[in-house]
Amino acid sequence: MKVCCIGAGYVGGPTCAVMALKCPDIVITLVDKSSERIAQWNSDKLPIYEPGLDEVVKKCRNVNLFFSTDIETAIKEADLIFISVNTPTKTCGNGKGRAADLKYVESAARMIAEIAQSNKIVVEKSTVPVRAAESIMHILRANQKPGIHYDILSNPEFLAEGTAINDLLNADRVLIGGEETTEGHEAVAKLSWIYEHWIPKQNILTTNTWSSELSKLAANAFLAQRISSINSLSAVCEATGADVSEVARAVGLDSRIGSKFLQASVGFGGSCFQKDILNLIYICENLNLPEVAAYWQQVIDMNDYQKRRFSQKIIESLFNTVSDKRIAILGFAFKKNTGDTRETAAITVCQTLLEEGAKLDIYDPKVEPEQIIDDLTHPSVTESPENVKKAVQIHSDPYSAVRATHALVICTEWDEFVDLDFQRIYQSMMKPAYIFDGRKILDHERLHQIGFHVQTIGKKY
Ligand code: NAD
Ligand code: UGA
Repeated sequence: MKVCCIGAGYVGGPTCAVMALKCPDIVITLVDKSSERIAQWNSDKLPIYEPGLDEVVKKCRNVNLFFSTDIETAIKEADLIFISVNTPTKTCGNGKGRAADLKYVESAARMIAEIAQSNKIVVEKSTVPVRAAESIMHILRANQKPGIHYDILSNPEFLAEGTAINDLLNADRVLIGGEETTEGHEAVAKLSWIYEHWIPKQNILTTNTWSSELSKLAANAFLAQRISSINSLSAVCEATGADVSEVARAVGLDSRIGSKFLQASVGFGGSCFQKDILNLIYICENLNLPEVAAYWQQVIDMNDYQKRRFSQKIIESLFNTVSDKRIAILGFAFKKNTGDTRETAAITVCQTLLEEGAKLDIYDPKVEPEQIIDDLTHPSVTESPENVKKAVQIHSDPYSAVRATHALVICTEWDEFVDLDFQRIYQSMMKPAYIFDGRKILDHERLHQIGFHVQTIGKKY
């Protein structure tokens, strides 16, 4: 079998790499319109940082895994094609700021329609609104050449960045949605056969196409809702003396609730939670279900509140002014073990501090300095990119970032931050020295002993 995947990003890359590792009898070609990205996949420095990915890619690359910009040949030769392109929130027109922009999915479908000379199974891997497969079907079938048959499947991806390889190798479930026809069932069986190379059959769930599409949005909405729920309680903890870690533990030990995704934080980030919930809200509004839309909107509103609340706490603690004060930001990625900064809470924190006139010293072990500057000078973040560039310094070492700062803010829970020499850090900082632990990863007791003033999420000091 030959497989093609359109879109060599955070999902396409790791997914195809693991598939190639586990299916030596399948040839997989990953294509992208970005020649730069493909060149990186073919180089020693992959375009994304993901623990364990390098090893898998090295093992399979140019054996049964190929990275190419020759989209036409890859589509022509493939029996099965994954569409794994980005589906960002629309930035203009109908549904601006809410609906998913399907222009990349549509363009992939049109390319397939134009190029295909034989039967294809087209698999929607991108996260899409419910009934998006219908649009793909329309495009493909309206342009169908005689004798060519298309099957369209939904196969959403549930991997999380930072743990993608493990998530793919040991997926809780693989979800495949298809048409309820004989051909549809045959197509589902073919895709299932690929996953059966390493996923136990009982973990491969098959549903109708629309259930599969909606389940992906629902899973992300549920996960994000848990974070907003615990974050809402973190505010209650700070006002009352309860400790959100203790509350999360007590609540999570109930086996009906479970302990995962109850880590209070500066707010969730990442390319998908907000985008997918906005997408769900837009669908609900269009289906004339305003109460359902309002329910899910609260998950996003609470996250915005959390990010703002944490940023305000920093300013208030520093005598209500950070103008010209140096503040160190440790961690810029939206979570540990990734270099991805999409929707990271660090952007909101930095934006608020910059608006108040602070000077920022930023360190992240995996985010490229240009990425941080791009994010902070984006028109949605500032009207004066030149001022931001003057106020921000990027460091390649945490100790140089904290030197002569008034405060240190933890925005990402990188393991290396836990083991920093805080005695040394304290000596190099201005006094009084403040630490704002937006991830609750540090030993606050010890920091107090050293002399720091500590503020965190969900606990009053
Ligand atoms: P990404 O931006 O990292 O990668 C998408 C790639 O598609 C880009 O490299 C882009 O150049 C390419 N592309 C777009 N249109 C193309 C076209 N017509 N032809 C060829 N290449 C094209 O995005 P991602 O993070 O991999 O996400 C992809 C999809 O998977 C999204 O729908 C997302 O919601 C979903 N998803 C993402 C994650 C995640 O952790 N990032 C997890 C699960 C699902
Ligand atoms: C999330 C889902 O976990 C994946 O299942 C899904 O496939 C993916 O979105 C997607 O569709 O893109 P991801 O965003 O990569 O994965 O990472 P998560 O581990 O879910 O973390 C998201 C954000 O929530 C991060 O900012 C993280 O720090 C934050 N978080 C997570 C918390 O604040 N508290 C928690 O308890 C867990």
